[in-house]
Amino acid sequence: MKIKFFKRCLTALVCCLAAGCMALTFAACANDNTPSGGTDDTGGVQQPDTPETPDEPETPEEPEEDGVLVVYFSATGNTENVAEYIADYTGGDIFELVPADPYTSADLRWTDDNSRVVREYEAKQAGTLQTVQLIEDTVENWAEYDTVFLGFPIWWYEAAWPVYDFVESNDFTGKMVYTFCTSSSSGLGNSTQVLADMAGGSGNWQDGRRFSSGASRSTVESWLEGLNIA
Ligand SMILES: Cc1cc2nc3c(=O)[nH]c(=O)nc-3n(C[C@H](O)[C@H](O)[C@H](O)COP(=O)(O)O)c2cc1C
Repeated sequence: MKIKFFKRCLTALVCCLAAGCMALTFAACANDNTPSGGTDDTGGVQQPDTPETPDEPETPEEPEEDGVLVVYFSATGNTENVAEYIADYTGGDIFELVPADPYTSADLRWTDDNSRVVREYEAKQAGTLQTVQLIEDTVENWAEYDTVFLGFPIWWYEAAWPVYDFVESNDFTGKMVYTFCTSSSSGLGNSTQVLADMAGGSGNWQDGRRFSSGASRSTVESWLEGLNIA
């Protein structure tokens, strides 16, 4: 009798243990069903991170076609004025040639035997002129320009030599080059041919136009109209 009672108690204990285990298992499963985002510190359900919307890709700028570039050297501003009129009319970019060692007004006294320009001129005639170095002798996006205007003052009947560094440093292949100058009275002379040779035969060099030192905008524009540059 005692043994029977003991057996019943044991069976009841085993059942209780089994029921307890099942309850724990259900509880654990219930926790597993929590959304994968987990809970936040306040006990709320965290939302999965929303991926950021990528920025709109920038539209690449259209490469300029048939670009016009106006390059010039000017010691006292006359050629610079003409260069600006050309750039305004054509919508072209402008690039000034600036000597690394700039010319002072004393340097430019061409009637003074001891001035820098006279010494340089004499060296040029003797074939010993050192190239006048420019701060920049190459142009960004050079390939985009197919028309180049190259301007300078006339110094002793020729293109002022600070332009030489630019001409020697660039390949003009495929480009139409129009020279222009300002002077007191002299014309372009053989400037264009000298520069074309210096460019090693690259580029289609055209004798452009000589302007008086104080040329007006309308005079420059009349010349440009005749060139029929689109
Ligand atoms: C060194 C030097 C040489 C010059 N030689 C001549 C010349 O041979 N013929 C001429 O007509 N003008 C000559 N000029 C005058 C300039 O060509 C003229 O003033 C020009 O418009 C200056 O241009 P810029 O202001 O752009 O420097 C000379 C000027 C200088 C400084």
